[in-house]
Amino acid sequence: MSRSSDHTLVESFRDSTHLIPSRALDTKKPSPYDPLVMKIWLCVATAASMMGVGIALEIGLAISARNGGFSVPQQNVVSFVSPQFLLSFFPTLFVLPVAFLWREIDWMVRWYEPYVVLSRGHATAEESLLLDSLGTFFTLFRALKYKHRIVFFSALTAATTYIFQPLAGAIFQLRQIDRSEDWSVTSSRVIGLAPDVSQLNGFLAAAGYAEAAVAHNLSDPPFVKNGWATAEFVFPQYPGLNGTLAVNTTGIQTDTACRTPRASDLVPQSENLFNYTATSVDGCIGSASFNASDSNTQYGVVPVSCAGASPNITFQPVMFWYFHLRADNNSPEAKGVFCTPAIKASNVEAIVDLEEKTMSACVQKGDLPNPNNVTGPPLNGRAYNGLIFNFSPDEQDARNNPDRFVAARATAVAAGVSGAIFRLASQQSGGLQATFDLPNGFLDLTTQVYTQHLALTAKSVYFLPDGSQLNGRLTSSVPRLWIDPLPGHALAILIFLVGFVGVVIHILGRRARRNLILCAPPGSIAAVMALTSRSGFGELLLPYDDEKTLEKKLSGLTYKMDRRTGAIVADEKGFYEFGGGSMGRDDAMMSLMGQTHDRVSGKDEGSYSDSSSHLAQQTAAGYPPWVARGA
Ligand SMILES: *[C@@H]1O[C@H](CO)[C@@H](O)[C@H](O)[C@H]1NC(C)=O
Ligand SMILES: *[C@@H]1O[C@H](CO)[C@@H](O)[C@H](O)[C@H]1NC(C)=O
Ligand SMILES: *[C@@H]1O[C@H](CO)[C@@H](O)[C@H](O)[C@H]1NC(C)=O
Ligand SMILES: *[C@@H]1O[C@H](CO)[C@@H](O)[C@H](O)[C@H]1NC(C)=O
Ligand SMILES: *[C@@H]1O[C@H](CO)[C@@H](O)[C@H](O)[C@H]1NC(C)=O
Repeated sequence: MSRSSDHTLVESFRDSTHLIPSRALDTKKPSPYDPLVMKIWLCVATAASMMGVGIALEIGLAISARNGGFSVPQQNVVSFVSPQFLLSFFPTLFVLPVAFLWREIDWMVRWYEPYVVLSRGHATAEESLLLDSLGTFFTLFRALKYKHRIVFFSALTAATTYIFQPLAGAIFQLRQIDRSEDWSVTSSRVIGLAPDVSQLNGFLAAAGYAEAAVAHNLSDPPFVKNGWATAEFVFPQYPGLNGTLAVNTTGIQTDTACRTPRASDLVPQSENLFNYTATSVDGCIGSASFNASDSNTQYGVVPVSCAGASPNITFQPVMFWYFHLRADNNSPEAKGVFCTPAIKASNVEAIVDLEEKTMSACVQKGDLPNPNNVTGPPLNGRAYNGLIFNFSPDEQDARNNPDRFVAARATAVAAGVSGAIFRLASQQSGGLQATFDLPNGFLDLTTQVYTQHLALTAKSVYFLPDGSQLNGRLTSSVPRLWIDPLPGHALAILIFLVGFVGVVIHILGRRARRNLILCAPPGSIAAVMALTSRSGFGELLLPYDDEKTLEKKLSGLTYKMDRRTGAIVADEKGFYEFGGGSMGRDDAMMSLMGQTHDRVSGKDEGSYSDSSSHLAQQTAAGYPPWVARGA
């Protein structure tokens, strides 16, 4: 089959391009098909803008790295779309036209390739006539095989543009960056002894909060943290503000110095009456008496008179006592905790969390320069124990105050704080009994609740209203537009390279196409028919030939574009060379190619002035037009 078809081709081959009339000289040269995407100015403009974008991106990356991104509005400006959408959609949209245009150019280059090969002449069938138009990806391999460099680099740059979109979608990020700025705040409190301290309202409020904190698991309120109470200031407030504010202000630290007794004794006085006596590590003795029939669980706080301590119960150390009857054998158990509260006023740096409205840290920054009526007279730096009061010299204890409301507050404060500790003990895992069983079971609980009570007390009794300005530092987390270096550099380099390589291959491609004149888009069937219908060999190809058959029939010859007419014809020169090879030259072939030498050496190149009727006459007479002209 193969042999016979080769034979057939050779034997019946005769092109009739001599029948194609030359283009008349006086009419204008037919304008070659030159699509918009192949225009050199468009290509250069696109490539230049791509290289510009690449350079701009690199500059943007450098600025972004140096400044930690670009500032953006804190609130989303466009409310109906998310910033993420804007940041990935628009860069993608931006590279889309470039990528689109580049693929379009690549498609044209691939489309032109068989014609470019033919225009050089001497083209094998598989590189020209049989060249199918493939997609970008497979073109890469075929172009490598045939060493079609322009096609290869064109397809490579087109393939690279596919990466532009994911890269462009990934370059921008919104990052929360901490930014510090000086911030002036108004101080609303300053250290000073509250004049109405004897009314006990501040103590009652503190005790109430401590009780609620145990019952409802509350943390410290604003401006109180771990025994510190700082002067209040006005929180800056505007929407979206999220950060911390550090302010140099004043604060008072409370230390409860709670200890378990060195020794203790629960002595029954009568059937239900008990006397609890404990000795602190400092040798102070605290004692409490109670009636077990009053309640199975009892608690309280008593002042402790110590050597060296103030004779005024308002400033004396205290002893908390806790009593209960064991559930299993009904035997009485009692525990005590001694506490010696002290305060220290100092300059502090308070750091508040603006979102949580809590103080996250309080750092001591040296002593207060000027004495006031807390550090100096009348208080002289002594700490109220905050539980037992005597603000009038004519009575022992504020719980017996003639003002029944003050007396009730005094009772509530003492009972409230010790009750809160007792309640916290019963909330522990293992319950109240577990706390009684531990040697130091009540110590930490007492310290925790009593410290909070005293810190809250400090906040209300050791501070007075103020309106001065303080310097602060606001550290807030602000959104910054950040160019991600990895996709950023990748996109910048690729877009620059594609622009550069693109313009080079486009210029080389134009050079390669300079001998090629296509007057119609090369893809249409009509255009192909116009180019090939007089090539002669076309008659040997049958509509039902498959790819293999076509290949067999066409291989063995080389092809070119006729330089006079632009028609695709078998390259006779190649034919001769080929004839010296495997196939052998026979007479039929010689007769077929009889006029070759004249034609090849003829001074043709489309400069005929003959009219078509003249040509027709010549044809009818059996003379090819070039013979007539050359004669
Ligand atoms: C403490 O001093 C301030 C002024 O520095 C004053 O307003 C306040 O009443 C004083 N407190 C007492 C209890 O005297
Ligand atoms: C109390 O709150 C703290 C956090 O403030 C939490 O860690 C703890 O588990 C809470 N305890 C209870 C009993 O809810
Ligand atoms: C505030 O910032 C912190 C960390 O800087 C972050 O965890 C938190 O989600 C932010 N809150 C809001 C409302 O943005
Ligand atoms: C105890 O101290 C308070 C506060 O300084 C004072 O008002 C009270 O008179 C003192 N009591 C006695 C008995 O000195
Ligand atoms: C507070 O004072 C210290 C010096 O004692 C200073 O280093 C710090 O910057 C100050 N903080 C603010 C928020 O002004």
